[in-house]
Amino acid sequence: MMNPADALIRWYEIHGRDLPWRQTRDPYKIWLSEIILQQTRIDQGKSYWERFIDRFPTIHDLARADHDTVMKMWEGLGYYSRARNLHHTAKIISGEMDGKFPNNWQDLIKLKGIGPYTARAIGSIAFGNKAAVIDGNVFRVASRYLADHSPIDAPQTRKSLQVLLDSWIVQVDAAAFNQAIMDLGAMICTPKSPACAICPLLSNCKAYADGCTEELPVKAKKLKRKSQFLEFYLIGIEKGNILIRRRPMNGIWAGLWEIPSLEVSEKEWNNAGRDGYELLGAFKHVLTHLDMMIKVYQGYSFPGSDHVGLHFIPEKNIKDYGFSRAVLKIFERYLTRVT
Ligand code: ADE
Repeated sequence: MMNPADALIRWYEIHGRDLPWRQTRDPYKIWLSEIILQQTRIDQGKSYWERFIDRFPTIHDLARADHDTVMKMWEGLGYYSRARNLHHTAKIISGEMDGKFPNNWQDLIKLKGIGPYTARAIGSIAFGNKAAVIDGNVFRVASRYLADHSPIDAPQTRKSLQVLLDSWIVQVDAAAFNQAIMDLGAMICTPKSPACAICPLLSNCKAYADGCTEELPVKAKKLKRKSQFLEFYLIGIEKGNILIRRRPMNGIWAGLWEIPSLEVSEKEWNNAGRDGYELLGAFKHVLTHLDMMIKVYQGYSFPGSDHVGLHFIPEKNIKDYGFSRAVLKIFERYLTRVT
């Protein structure tokens, strides 16, 4: 696998974004930019960063500020715990660490508000740590470059990508590599309509060669919702009695009581009705991963072949049995209409 770092960095030196925190190696200013840029767009983040730096030129100024002032300056950026952690960490570094940031990402990550991405970003940009960052942009660039279809939200995918990127970054300027890949993801290797024609990695990009750029990255599939088609039968031979039975000890309704029911195909469920039965109504009962499509019929005997356990109870005793929410809904809606 060809290391794309040199091509990336050559591109970045010419086309990389001109951002104010890139003019400095001061860890305080870089830390501030990374905290602001968590969940904030660059153009919005820039003006907040400039105002913070104007007002608090050093970490001691920020540490000394009163809390309400910091919160007020953060106003509009959202995720206010970021501002609380920012102020807390400023006080720790100013008061207990002589104003000096730890110079490696393994210690940076111990500070409040600094997770793996931010620790690696500060470590690499301010101190040259050979620590590659991974975020959504990086995942997209890397999965396309490698034509890797592993789901990006699987921990194993992140682990192997981290190993690969860390092996690439050791050979180059880490600050440039990380920011180059961020910029490539934001400017060229965009989620939709990537600008492949002007991409510095084009000649070795496997997704481009395979024609699968827009399929990547792959996200693990959401659990697909299922539908189940059911018929329930309100059977009362004598007025005031109702036919029930206990569910088997498996499935989502294990051991609960029910009125007799049949699972049918979608096609069957959609048929006009059942001869000899009155259709009382139909509704959808929604569970976490399942939509139950329920039709309720009334008649004089259960049409299913399995009658095991069926017996009548007086309607007034319904409250003594445990029924599923679906069956309780049926009672609520239709029982009074049974004659
Ligand atoms: N997003 C997070 N950190 C960034 C940085 N240093 N440059 C550009 N975008 C970023």
